[in-house]
Order: sequence, then structure tokens, then C-alpha cells
Amino acid sequence: MLFGSKKVIGLDIGTSSIKLVEVEKSKSSATLTAFGYVSTPPGAIVGGEIVAPEVLSDAIRSLVTQTKTGRKKAATAIWGTAVITKKISIPRIDEKLVGEQLKWEAEQYIPFDINESNLEYQVIHDSTSPEQMNVLLVAAKRDYVMRYAEVIEAAGLECSIIDVAGFALANCFEANYGRLEGQAVILLNIGAGTTDFVVMEHGELTFSRDIPVGGLTYTTDISKAMGVSLEEAENLKISAGTGQPVPQEVTDVIGHTNEAVAEEIRRSYDFFLASSSDVKITRAYVTGGGLGIPGLFEVVQNTLGVTLESLNPFATVQYDSRVFNADYISQISPYACVGLGLALREAGDR
Ligand SMILES: Nc1ncnc2c1ncn2[C@@H]1O[C@H](COP(=O)(O)OP(=O)(O)OP(=O)(O)O)[C@@H](O)[C@H]1O
Ligand SMILES: [Mg+2]
Repeated sequence: MLFGSKKVIGLDIGTSSIKLVEVEKSKSSATLTAFGYVSTPPGAIVGGEIVAPEVLSDAIRSLVTQTKTGRKKAATAIWGTAVITKKISIPRIDEKLVGEQLKWEAEQYIPFDINESNLEYQVIHDSTSPEQMNVLLVAAKRDYVMRYAEVIEAAGLECSIIDVAGFALANCFEANYGRLEGQAVILLNIGAGTTDFVVMEHGELTFSRDIPVGGLTYTTDISKAMGVSLEEAENLKISAGTGQPVPQEVTDVIGHTNEAVAEEIRRSYDFFLASSSDVKITRAYVTGGGLGIPGLFEVVQNTLGVTLESLNPFATVQYDSRVFNADYISQISPYACVGLGLALREAGDR
């Protein structure tokens, strides 16, 4: 890019809320300068698939106005079942030639039509074999990606970067915790519809999977068990999550759902372990609105048998203390990670 700013805003379009993050970067630091969120129109995005583009664009437009950002370029993230991330092993070749090679290799690994997909890859530098190299293949259905771009452009923004949620999460982690050489960690983003499960080994993302459980699982379970509407169930869940008194039945359902959600996460963990022989996970970092669900943190920790820690998106990234106070920052921290990982990108990044 020759002219114009490379500065972007991060736009995390979630099942339950849309988050906008603006960061000012210098050579050695990054500072949060604007943050805002609006509720996602119910049902507008389901499982990462945009169902109602017009209402989503309207919501984004009002979020931009509300946040008063001057930036016009946006980075967003796709997620869900139409995005596939897969680690594959290919005969070692020059890294420059990998892209060409993958055009031939990718088909067998992707469950949808390769001619209608966007393909990206990242070489993983973990292999000790001189003959083979590991590559992370990322594929997404093209029409699905296009719809994100269209929604953002219809909101009056320029869609400069379309990332994958797991990678944005990893980017936020790295900005705050560094590359953690020699360690393998899990990142968990427990949202409303989806839990992103990411593994980073020596600072590189090697595994990413979207598990279809999250805060909405609780809402649905409470609604079914108690015969109340989804709105009522959501309110009961939030009451429980903010320490207000709720009927015992709510507490019971949450307890059961905690077990089921943790079990789903463990299945992904087991799948990861089965596919990577000698990796020793040292820790898991958790974020997302799901952190508010009573007991979930402990149940996940016990079920995985891994020490859990909250991912602090402001461990290293600063915030403008003239704009934000510490209470607000800790309140938004569980919601900010993916958007922050996006906001740290620059137009022109791959
Ligand atoms: N205090 C709380 N107690 C319980 N649940 C909460 C609390 N605060 C938020 N949640 C739940 O967290 C979820 C929202 O989290 P988040 O904003 O991370 O999701 P999202 O990004 O919109 O969804 P996804 O990433 O799945 O698309 C909702 O299901 C909401 O009900
Ligand atoms: Mg989310």
C-alpha cells in the first residue's frame, strides 16, 4: 500500500455481541484507545455463518458511531464449521514453494469443494525430520468469507483483513505473554455459541478447533429444564453469574451443563493429544463471556487436568488511562481478546 493508513479496527462479530477494538501501536508498545460493543441481533449469525446481513451491518454501523473511531479499515475474524484448520505433513521443500504444492495436496484434507474455498497456510517450524515439514492448512468456504466482507462494507467500512478467530486469539496471547519458547499452552475462548480451542507450541499455533458449546448451551438447557423462554433463561443465567439469588434448579442445571461443556472440551483435548505424540501442555489460558458461568473454570480445570489461568489481554498491552479506568478494563477483558488480536494487525498483513 502506497498511500493511506494501515491502521485498522478489530471487529469481533460474535453470536451474542459485536466488539470493536482500536489500538494505537508504537515500535515497542500497543495501547487501547477505543472499545465498544453492541448486542448481536438474535439469530443474525449462527455457528459463524451470517444469516441476516442487513441487521448485522446496521449493528456494526451503530457500534462505529458509538465508539467514535476515526478509522475506516477493519480486520475481522471468521469462525465455525465452514473454517477448517489442519496440520499436515508434506515432503520438505523451499518455504516459497509451499503455496503451489498445497494446491495439489489440499483437496484430500478439506471436506468441501476446494474450487469454492479460500486457502491459506502457515509453515510450522517444529519438525525435526529433514525429509518432512509440517504445515498448517486453513481453508474456508469462499461465499462464507465474502459475506463477512460484504457485511462490513455495507456498514461503511473497508474490510482489510479477514482472519480466523483462533489465530486472532493467538495473536492477542502473543502480544501479552510473548512466544513462550519451549512451552505448549492451550487457549480457550468460551463464547456464546462456540468455544475456540487453540494450542500454541513454542509460540506457533499448531491446532485450532471450534467446539459448538458456550454460554448459549446454558441458556438452552435452563429454558428446556424449567420450561421458561430463552430470554428468561438467559436472565436467570446472568443472575447466577453475577451472584444474585436464583432458584436451586438453575444452579443444578448449570452444574450439569458445566460437566457436559467440560467433557466436550476434553474430547478436543484428547483428539489433539492423539494427533501429536510428544507434546506436554504446561497451562491453559481462558477467556470469553463463558468465564462468568459459576463453577465452569474449576470444572474445566479438573476435567482437563491442566492448570487454568485467565488470559489477561492487558498483561502487556496498555490502555489509555484518560479514557478507561481499571474497573472497566477488568470488566471488558473477557470479551476483548479476539478483537484485540485483530486490532493489532495492519492492513496488508496476510
Ligand atoms: N456474568 C455472566 N454469567 C454467565 N454468563 C455470562 C455472563 N456474562 C456473559 N455471559 C455469557 O457469555 C456469552 C457471551 O460471551 P462472548 O461475548 O465471549 O460471546 P460471543 O463472542 O458473542 O460468542 P461466540 O464467540 O460464541 O460467537 C453469552 O452467552 C452470555 O450469556
Ligand atoms: Mg466470541
